[in-house]
Amino acid sequence: MKIRAAVLEDFGRPLVVQEVDLAEPGPGEVLVRLVACGVCHTDMYTASGVDPSGYAPTVLGHEGAGVVERLGEGVTLLSEGDHVVTLFSPQCGRCVHCESPLTNLCLAIREQQNRGYLPDGTTRLSLGGEPMRHFMGTSTFAEYTVMPEIALAKIDPEAPLDRACLFACGLSTGLGAAIRTAAVRPGSTCVVFGAGMVGLGAVAGCRLQGAERVVCVDLSPERLELARGQGATDVMLGGPDSVEAILEMTGGFGADYTFEATGSVAVMRQAVEAARMGWGLCTVCGVAGKGETLDVVPRLLITGRRVCGSSFGGLKGREDVPALVSRYLAGEIDVDPFITHRLTLDEVNRGFELMEAQDGIRSVLEL
Ligand code: CU
Ligand code: ZN
Repeated sequence: MKIRAAVLEDFGRPLVVQEVDLAEPGPGEVLVRLVACGVCHTDMYTASGVDPSGYAPTVLGHEGAGVVERLGEGVTLLSEGDHVVTLFSPQCGRCVHCESPLTNLCLAIREQQNRGYLPDGTTRLSLGGEPMRHFMGTSTFAEYTVMPEIALAKIDPEAPLDRACLFACGLSTGLGAAIRTAAVRPGSTCVVFGAGMVGLGAVAGCRLQGAERVVCVDLSPERLELARGQGATDVMLGGPDSVEAILEMTGGFGADYTFEATGSVAVMRQAVEAARMGWGLCTVCGVAGKGETLDVVPRLLITGRRVCGSSFGGLKGREDVPALVSRYLAGEIDVDPFITHRLTLDEVNRGFELMEAQDGIRSVLEL
């Protein structure tokens, strides 16, 4: 079928919204009519050409939500009409990682997905008769997409899809970091570095876990205001003295839990240093630049601090994303303030410009 999609033709150039061909879903695959899609940093990062593993042409987008339109052969997990959130981090339920409660890094389709192919090593997208690769296994800057059934989370149809799409990436990543990866204990003191989508999600996650004190550190007073709305009890403008300020606030000890959601290795270091001796846990969510390293004084670790990383908040997508969406519907998570701009597919490049200008938290494309 012919669909309209935003194609990255060349790195460093605006996306070109145009007609592309989308083939029918193969075995184990599903055709999804996309309704909404968030514009995320990873899309812009790939479009810029800085990501060494990026490829073009491709249809970008990975924060999608929509409705199942058609099923490929042998699909059992979904039915036509189901409302779904796309998962760049799938859950096959069978691989050694899916069977372990210790990780969410499903191994089933990783290699093909990283190279831009569906699990059988081919693509459903083509442009002018030439096969075109999928982005993050999702390619959701489009009217429709074909994805493996294991990479779609079935959600409550009551959830508005223009909000639900945020659970496909940034928001879930932050919520999960606090709820799943760190499993923040009630009564704790938490510090979140960064008040973008992921950091704000982490603030909300700490609140949901019953943290007593949630400090948010960021460079923008407006974003810190949003952090207050998500449950931050204290906010602080970031700078070289952040660690000292946090130690002062905590009787010289540091926080029970710290979260880094900026991608800056200097901030990651601060997050480690702001964690409490004895048991402080620093969770790193940000993606650093290629080749960058994190400097940690080993003495900090010997005296009981721990550092861990979190990908997609440690969430097993098909189980955990629907549960988070239900918590949103129950009024526990306030999603509306994150949506700062609404755009059409044709305005997708405007979404990148807004992000570059650090204007707002999320632009949502209405497809
Ligand atoms: Cu993302
Ligand atoms: Zn798996």
